[in-house]
Amino acid sequence: MTDFTLHCPACLSDHSPGPERYVCPRCGGNLEVRYDYEALKNALSRERLAADRDPTVWRYRAILPVQTPYKGLPLGGTPLVEAPNLAADLGVARALVKDDTRLPSGSFKDRASSVGLLRALDLGHTLVTGASTGNAASSTATLSVPLGLQARIFIPQAAPPAKVAQLLAFGAQVIAVEGTYDDAFDLSLAATAHYGWYNRNTGYNPYTREGKKTVSFEIAEQLGWLVPDLVAVPVGDGNILTGVAKGFEELVRLGLIERAPRLLAVQAAGSDAIVRALEGDGVIRPVSGDTVADSISVSLPRDGDLTVRAVRASGGWGIRVSDEEILAAIPYLARRVGVFAEPAGVTATAGLLAAARQGLLDPSWTVAALATGTGLKDIASVRRAPVGDVITVAPSLDALQRALA
Ligand SMILES: Cc1ncc(COP(=O)(O)O)c(C=O)c1O
Ligand SMILES: [Zn+2]
Repeated sequence: MTDFTLHCPACLSDHSPGPERYVCPRCGGNLEVRYDYEALKNALSRERLAADRDPTVWRYRAILPVQTPYKGLPLGGTPLVEAPNLAADLGVARALVKDDTRLPSGSFKDRASSVGLLRALDLGHTLVTGASTGNAASSTATLSVPLGLQARIFIPQAAPPAKVAQLLAFGAQVIAVEGTYDDAFDLSLAATAHYGWYNRNTGYNPYTREGKKTVSFEIAEQLGWLVPDLVAVPVGDGNILTGVAKGFEELVRLGLIERAPRLLAVQAAGSDAIVRALEGDGVIRPVSGDTVADSISVSLPRDGDLTVRAVRASGGWGIRVSDEEILAAIPYLARRVGVFAEPAGVTATAGLLAAARQGLLDPSWTVAALATGTGLKDIASVRRAPVGDVITVAPSLDALQRALA
């Protein structure tokens, strides 16, 4: 098993990864998994990775903090889609879309859940809980099945029906909280403390970020160990973004790439606590999260502090997009790139389009956007988007000719 420790970037203390260790015992800050990178250089050389025929995230097992062999649904190795139309529209040299809508449960969260659930098994747990706007929940439910874990999930009552249906189909016990995602989050923490379940909450459990970082490993490897100049990330709690940042930073430490990309943190205008902090003094202040992009509708981002640090350290910036821009990006991404994504799943692309309009993209750049959740997760929002409507006709050629005239 790869040795690791837990580091608190807020108070700079180090801790051993005890069973009940989620946040810093000294200051309550979010913890970061740290490895002996020198010792890992051999196991993670370009040659070793090139010879490894495993296309899943487990090709990076040497730098993942888990012991139990993964016998679950295969995941990872998602397409990095070349997007020439998007590049032309943005006025940049090259544009790519990392299509994580194709992961087993249809969202990026599978990267986090696979590592989080394996950690639960390492610690001998049989029940995993968590709060989620929907995708982390359905991901936990889906991946728990072959791993023999039971999932007990807290969601806000307003979670999109498709996500709830998915949870129920996979046999999770679903607790819909009469309140927001933030309320569900707090209740799940209280229940975890009371019952002793294993908690995989985003921005609380330090191992979710470890799964999320694999997307950066894949992007760099798919580009032949080059990195984009800018990577756009949809941001709710900010844990995907800190995972993306950690992945690229670790590749630099391992000597696999020379520099990490700038990161563009994209938030919905109605849920923009992190963008506000980036534009201001860096301090996260809660907003009343309200956006059509339910997956990133967050009042108090749980990984906000580290997100602000990561964006600033990368030389990137934050940008907000309106619900209208998000909805418009659904048919845009489908028609101009070929990827069908839910509102949060198109938000990174909407952020790139907004950045281009503001003249913030250098024409020489290669840019990448993460597509983080499939469009099938939230059909109601797709129908609210400018996608047009069906043509209804009586079953006769006459009627068809009239309708098409
Ligand atoms: C589809 C999708 N995109 C983006 C995000 C944002 O991730 P984070 O909350 O880690 O910022 C989520 C989180 O639920 C999501 O489900
Ligand atoms: Zn601390």
